[in-house]
Amino acid sequence: MLIAVDGPAAAGKGTLSRRLAEHFNLARLDTGLIYRTVAKKVLETKDPENNKIAIEIAQFLSLNDLDTNGLRDEAIGTAASKISAIPEVRKTLLNFQRNFAKNPPNGKVGAVLDGRDIGTVVCPKAEFKLFITASSKIRAERRFKELQDRGKEAIRSAILRDIIDRDERDSIRSVSPLLPARDAQILDTSKLDPDAVFNLALNFISLKI
Ligand code: C5P
Repeated sequence: MLIAVDGPAAAGKGTLSRRLAEHFNLARLDTGLIYRTVAKKVLETKDPENNKIAIEIAQFLSLNDLDTNGLRDEAIGTAASKISAIPEVRKTLLNFQRNFAKNPPNGKVGAVLDGRDIGTVVCPKAEFKLFITASSKIRAERRFKELQDRGKEAIRSAILRDIIDRDERDSIRSVSPLLPARDAQILDTSKLDPDAVFNLALNFISLKI
């Protein structure tokens, strides 16, 4: 079983994917974490604007590198969105993601991958494709609350700006732009809580099983 969950930043992909993975006993790959990990490693080098370094870091990435610590900050998200527009970085990470989908770890019989281009590019043959979205204002508000809950300082207007900029960068890039696959079920979560989103996703999946 292969489930692709795509959508813009802070739309609720992560929460939904985690719940789907638990429900169907699947391995889960948060592909944003891959780009964030590469971005963090690039920022730690002396030459973060050098694309060659980003490509090299992407080539040597392993599953063990995907540690969530310190990767959730907006600054890392923005850096990830910049390096993710480098075609060679995407090409290298494509193999990594496809390999995960084909050979899910820990003996799992399937996988759920969430990101921006899973249904369109990484796993175009996935049986189940969901595209999760919400208005930029609602997504900024959710991110603001999430940061507050983690005890981080946050400014609403700056978060909204970041989200709008990141949406634009992710949507206009030439390689794998943020787009729903033609056969994806689109879920606008602006007025839905996580339980409602999960139930709608389960409905969609059970209709296709
Ligand atoms: O989903 P998340 O906010 O963690 O992703 C960080 C950035 O990584 C995104 O803004 C996007 O530019 C990039 N990304 C991508 N393709 C994916 C997942 C994430 O380009 N499949």
